[in-house]
Amino acid sequence: VTAEKAGFDHFMLKEIYEQPKAYRDTMRGRVSEDNNSVSLTEIGMTAEQVKGIRKVHIVACGTAYHAGLVGKTVIERMARIPVETDVASEYRYRSPIITPDTLVIVVSQSGETADTLAALREAKRNGARVLAITNVVGSSVAREADDVLITWAGPEIAVASTKAYTSQLIAFYLFGVYLAQTLGTMEQAAITEVLTAMQQLPEQVEAVLEQSAVLKQVADSIAVHKNLFFIGRGVDFAVAQEGSLKLKEISYIHSEAYAAGELKHGTLALIEDGIPVIALVTQEELYEKTLSNIKEVKARGAHVLAIANAGSEVEVSKSVDELFAIPKTLPILSPAVSVIPLQLISYYASLAVGNDVDKPRNLAKSVTVE
Ligand code: G6P
Repeated sequence: VTAEKAGFDHFMLKEIYEQPKAYRDTMRGRVSEDNNSVSLTEIGMTAEQVKGIRKVHIVACGTAYHAGLVGKTVIERMARIPVETDVASEYRYRSPIITPDTLVIVVSQSGETADTLAALREAKRNGARVLAITNVVGSSVAREADDVLITWAGPEIAVASTKAYTSQLIAFYLFGVYLAQTLGTMEQAAITEVLTAMQQLPEQVEAVLEQSAVLKQVADSIAVHKNLFFIGRGVDFAVAQEGSLKLKEISYIHSEAYAAGELKHGTLALIEDGIPVIALVTQEELYEKTLSNIKEVKARGAHVLAIANAGSEVEVSKSVDELFAIPKTLPILSPAVSVIPLQLISYYASLAVGNDVDKPRNLAKSVTVE
């Protein structure tokens, strides 16, 4: 068993460290050498079919749903197609408007999640084209979808998903660029900028992994608390939701993710002296707004840890108690870097409270009941 973990104490830690490789493997052969274009010939969709897409529904469960929240922003920004993201267990029951010009994207690490599979079937019954983003070649979802985009994360054993999530982000970036180049919704320079920045992501993740000792200290200080909050705006809010889920799954510490600007509409009442708040502050155009939300929680005694871009320390650190700097990338790509410290904080918090990291109570790796 130790051999399978390649010297790591847990599968989760091994999988966290495999992310730079998962990014490279998921991009390999899909990005042109000059970083000017994406090739997704594995997807059968013709240019005509892409041009016929009027809206996109992204449907998934758990961590894959959180990747879909980022996917919504990616596709809307890059391809200017309206996107809705739903949890699969809700999707079918809200009578979604699925038409033949709807592209339904199901996201599933295992490709076997019952609710996701049921959503896929419902989409097909209504004549929509279905694209599956999955980590398992030949899975039920892969077999039944019209098009398949494989995430090459390799087998994920730990119940808490890490490298599958980040590979799903990479898949969305690739697909977003693919749509944009087909539809002409992005300038060539912008496409090249995104693809060039994506090539830097593996090294940027490595730089975060090298700082795991600092994150262990953060986790130890968090592990004594019963409640905490994650806040952010835009894609930072999507990452906040994933960070909160990760922490709950394996440390059993209660946390809530909140859109930073929404705090004052209720949640602020829960902020009391010493409560930890982890604030994602990576979106430059939203800095000012997020910092003012941080001041609101600080004024009520919260202890704020910011996850912020290297280079923004001067601006951000005066408003927070602690700051963990991550390498800066394009705002849209930041989830692929900013989630890494949250994964490590969850891992070390789980260890600190003495839980079974890889097999948290009550949870299964793949949920095949609805
Ligand atoms: C379970 C797992 C989660 C996962 C979710 C969706 O709840 O514990 O980690 O995100 O299922 O799984 P899928 O295989 O469809 O991505």
